[in-house]
Amino acid sequence: MGLIEKYRDRLPVLSNTPIVSLEEGDTPLVELKNLIQPFKHKIKLYAKFEGLNPTGSFKDRGMTLAVSKAVEKGVKAVICASTGNTSAAAVAYAARAGIASFVLIPSGKIALGKLSQAMMHGAVVIQIEGNFDDGMRLVEEIGQNGELEIVNSVNPFRLHGQKTVSFEIIEQLGYVPDFHALPVGNAGNITAHWMGYSEASGKSCCFQESVGCYEIEKKPFSNDRPTILGYQAAGAAPFMRREKISNPETVATAIRIGSPVSWDYAWNVIRESGGWFNECNDEEILQTQKLLAKTEGIFCEPASAVAVAGVLKDLGNDKISPGSTVVCTLTGHGLKDPDIAIARSDKPHSVAANREEIAKLIKGYI
Ligand code: F0G
Repeated sequence: MGLIEKYRDRLPVLSNTPIVSLEEGDTPLVELKNLIQPFKHKIKLYAKFEGLNPTGSFKDRGMTLAVSKAVEKGVKAVICASTGNTSAAAVAYAARAGIASFVLIPSGKIALGKLSQAMMHGAVVIQIEGNFDDGMRLVEEIGQNGELEIVNSVNPFRLHGQKTVSFEIIEQLGYVPDFHALPVGNAGNITAHWMGYSEASGKSCCFQESVGCYEIEKKPFSNDRPTILGYQAAGAAPFMRREKISNPETVATAIRIGSPVSWDYAWNVIRESGGWFNECNDEEILQTQKLLAKTEGIFCEPASAVAVAGVLKDLGNDKISPGSTVVCTLTGHGLKDPDIAIARSDKPHSVAANREEIAKLIKGYI
């Protein structure tokens, strides 16, 4: 079952909204026991593995709703700027809906898997000589006349779809975590998480009314909200600098963003939840990506690893108290970015197709 069907009462859909779904959502919540074991501060650490959505990232949650609403409205095409995952989701859901899609991506700065997704689904792929922030500005200008539906997170339906991740976490854990950590780029997802936790607990938050006068079920099913922790890559950390930056740079290309659209919302989330931002450098990010892969069997993309790297850092700083339950959103699948994985791993052994040679090699390891 897709998430619109599952959470219909809590989403701004009408009885005649055409549902465009790839059966997204319902992703695993995995406890990271091995990874946390060597740390002296004991916490219960979980990963919500959003890389297991149909196009390999959390964007599918927002896109099922944004594209369904675009079709309801009768638009013929959608448009977005992207560092790769939004475009992958937009083009797939547009293909499913039978409408056209246009995506603006920063030339040479999106991961290979994401580029292949954009190219595969029949979208018009426009590579720009500029970064995500340039693309976002252009999309807002081009989308102004209403002919094309913008499906970036400025589209409030994206946030409503993405808020369902918080509902699922509460259902899966059976309670509300103490902390929720996630990577922050354009800052839509941190906003959506808070919206979800707020709606689940019947508490109001700063942007609740952002989609206007829809009747949405408000009956609470939890009693609290977590503290939200937003982590950024050090070279692309406008929230840490407390100002937007013009030349973001990081190996985690998904969050290579200097001018987040949901700037004010994200600050409100931090304020309302009593949380904080922190940053990790590229080396910390890649080491944590590898650690997740080697100790837990979870292959996420670099941007996703920022959440876990940040938690480990703040655990060391004593900012997260022992005994806490901490959930990290792993936003995208590692297969999205095979270049990084190959560059950061031991090279395969090249041997003859010969039993003795292979046996000798194995002996060296056991
Ligand atoms: N993690 C991944 C894997 C992402 O692709 C993104 C954003 C984020 C984290 C940050 O989420 O922007 O809501 O703060 N990717 C966008 C894109 C920008 O175009 O795919 P955010």
